[in-house]
Amino acid sequence: MKEDLGKLKDEAEKKIRQAKDEKELDGVRIEFLGRKQGRVTHILRNLKDLPPEDKPLIGGLVNKLKQFIQKEIKEKKKEIEKKEIEGYIDITLPGKKPLLGRLHPITQTIREIKSIFIGLGFRVVSGPEIETEYYNFEALNMPRYHPARDEQDSFYLDDNYLLRTQTSPVQIRVMQKESPPIRIIAPGRCYRRDAVDASHFPMFHQIEGLAVDKKITFSDLKGSLTYFVHQMFGRDTKLRFRPSFFPFTEPSAEVDISCIMCKGSGCRVCSGKGWLEILGAGMVDPEVFKKVGYDPEKYQGFAFGMGPDRICMLKYGIDDIRLFFQNDLRFLEQF
Ligand code: PHE
Repeated sequence: MKEDLGKLKDEAEKKIRQAKDEKELDGVRIEFLGRKQGRVTHILRNLKDLPPEDKPLIGGLVNKLKQFIQKEIKEKKKEIEKKEIEGYIDITLPGKKPLLGRLHPITQTIREIKSIFIGLGFRVVSGPEIETEYYNFEALNMPRYHPARDEQDSFYLDDNYLLRTQTSPVQIRVMQKESPPIRIIAPGRCYRRDAVDASHFPMFHQIEGLAVDKKITFSDLKGSLTYFVHQMFGRDTKLRFRPSFFPFTEPSAEVDISCIMCKGSGCRVCSGKGWLEILGAGMVDPEVFKKVGYDPEKYQGFAFGMGPDRICMLKYGIDDIRLFFQNDLRFLEQF
């Protein structure tokens, strides 16, 4: 009997070693340990027919054999699983790089503009995106008949409240709270009821600038904006101040820079003109000072407003503003 058990052990060991996959291994398990026909199970079941004095010894040996086979099968199974994984996973391949988040190109542009003006002594402030008619229009010297006040052009929430169409109301809010000297910039979102196309989107960004003090002149405005343009686009960029009109500045100007793509010779980006308009500006209108209780005889100021969306488009040669807001990672990943 003992010899039979030894043979059975050798046979099981050999068959387990030779099993090539889980199915074959399971066959071996059934052959030896199967509940109905298993060869070891069979011996265990027939222990009762042995002479009583042989039972403990043989019983112990058979149980040991059973445990031995169970252990061998378990180890072999692990080995087979490992081999299978190695078969279809190439562990020598480099790992997948985790996606790194980054700042939106417009955020990057706003930050760049902010840091240039902070270097000039300006402070960053913000105002509400939901404004009243008073701050968005009235206090900025835009009377009732002004076309921008039309429902066709602005998003009204009710008779009084609307989504601000410009960051200029922040000028008023700051001047109401503080007295000169003032040097602030105010970046933020603005809203207009424009039909969406490559250069218009109902939500866009502006950065407002305001400096108020005694003896502020148009030269200060020119000097500050020239410094800004040279920092932002390079020292060889030229500026051009064109006479313009805004209800809250007098005199007013629109500022162009020499095209950053063609350097002024004319190309697709500047539509052959050699110049790109980047902002509106002017000296604060005395009527605005009166609304906030500043004495226009005592104080002067300059203000400007620029569109970082457009500046970002020019800087990177992007020809469609919609790309900024569709949030397609293939676009955003490039910045
Ligand atoms: N708020 C003006 C606009 O949206 C820009 C501007 C700001 C002009 C400040 C002059 C001074 O067009």
